[in-house]
Amino acid sequence: MIRMALIGCGRIATKKHTEAIIKNKDLFELVAVVDPVIEKAENIARIMEEAGLKKPEIYTDYKEVLKREDIDMVSIATESGYHYQISIDAMNNGKHVLVEKPMALSTKAMDHMIQISNEKNLKLGVCFQNRFNPPIQELRKKLENGDFGKLLHGQISIRWNRNKSYYEQAPWRGTWELDGGTLMNQCTHGIDLLQWTFGEIDEVTGKIENFNHPYIEAEDFGSAIIKFKNGSVGIIEGTANVYPRNLEETLAVFGEKGTVVIGGLAVNKIETWRFENEDTHPFQNLPDPDTVYGAGHVPLYKDFYEAIIDDRKPYVSGEDGKKAIEIVLAIYKSSKEGKPVKFPFEFSTEEMENYFEKVRI
Ligand SMILES: NC(=O)c1ccc[n+]([C@@H]2O[C@H](COP(=O)([O-])OP(=O)(O)OC[C@H]3O[C@@H](n4cnc5c(N)ncnc54)[C@H](O)[C@@H]3O)[C@@H](O)[C@H]2O)c1
Repeated sequence: MIRMALIGCGRIATKKHTEAIIKNKDLFELVAVVDPVIEKAENIARIMEEAGLKKPEIYTDYKEVLKREDIDMVSIATESGYHYQISIDAMNNGKHVLVEKPMALSTKAMDHMIQISNEKNLKLGVCFQNRFNPPIQELRKKLENGDFGKLLHGQISIRWNRNKSYYEQAPWRGTWELDGGTLMNQCTHGIDLLQWTFGEIDEVTGKIENFNHPYIEAEDFGSAIIKFKNGSVGIIEGTANVYPRNLEETLAVFGEKGTVVIGGLAVNKIETWRFENEDTHPFQNLPDPDTVYGAGHVPLYKDFYEAIIDDRKPYVSGEDGKKAIEIVLAIYKSSKEGKPVKFPFEFSTEEMENYFEKVRI
C-alpha cells in the first residue's frame, strides 16, 4: 500500500480524488487530508469513513504533513497557482507527487518540477485523466499502429459555459496569478489530447479575448493555430461563452487514411470512425458520461501506483503534463506580442497581468 496525503480538499478533490482513492483502496491508504478551510478536509475524511475506510488525520498546514516519514506520496488539488511550490516542497521532503492540471503556470516552474523529480527519482504525475477515456485509448491504438498514414490536420473545440456563479464560487478562478482563463483551466485537457496525437511543436500563433466575463482578469475565449514539426497543423478553439450551457468538447483527427471525431460533452463519445474497410466503431453508440470530468482519475491513480512500484515514469509524467500548458502559455505570449511563438520559449501567466486593460485602452 502507498501511504498518501491529499492536499487541497475542494471541488475536484471531493468529486474525483475521493472516488479514485476509494476505487483503488487496495493500493492507497489516505492517511492525511489537508485544507486551510478545515471543514473541507473534514468533509473528505467523512467520505472516507462512510466508504468503510480508515479515517484520515486532518491538517490545515501541508508543511506539517510533509514532515511525516510514513507518507510516501501526496496528491495536490489546490488552486493552480499553488501547485508549483507545494510540489517542490513535497519532493524536497522525499514524497512522490500527483498534481492536478495545470501542473504550474510558467515554463520555468514546470521545468524546475521536472528537474527535481528526475534528480531525486521521485514520481511526478499530472491529472490529464482524459487520456484514459476509452475512445481516446482506441484512437491511441490506431495512431500507434500507423493506421492514419500521414497525419494532416486536427482540431480541438471546447465549447462550454462558465457563468458568473462559477467564478463567484472561488475568487481565484480567472485570475492571472492563480488560474489563467478558460484555455488554462477548462481547455488544457483537450489541448493535451491534440498535442498528444500530433506530436512535437514548431510554433504557435494565438489570439485570446474576454468577450463576456468582465469580472475576471483572464480570457473567456482563445484560438490558435499550431504548426507541428511533422508538418501537420492543429487548430484550437476554446470558449466559456456558450449560451446557455455546455455544448461539446470535440477532437477531430484527419489523416491520409483515417478520420476520427471524438466528441460529446467532453471527448468521451466516438462520433466518426473511418479507416479502410472500417466505417464504424463498437463504442460509437455508447452514452456520454454524466460529468465533464469523465472517470479517468481511477485508472490514473492505479497507473501512478504502478509507476512507483515498478520504478517507471507515470503514464502522464511531468514532461507530458508540461506540453499542453506550454501551448497555452504560447497562445498568451503570441496574443500579447502579436506574432507567432517558436518553441522552446519562456513565459508565465504573471506576464499577462492587466493584459485586457491594456489592449482596451
Ligand atoms: N482534472 C480535472 O478535470 C480538474 C477539474 C476541476 C479542477 N481541476 C484543477 O484542480 C485544482 C482545484 O480546483 P477546484 O475546482 O477543486 O478548486 P477549489 O477552490 O474548489 O479547491 C481548492 C482547495 O484547495 C485549498 N487550499 C488552498 N491552499 C491550500 C494549501 N496551502 N494547502 C491545502 N489546501 C489548500 C482551498 O482551501 C480549497 O478548498 C485546480 O488546479 C483546477 O485546475 C482539475
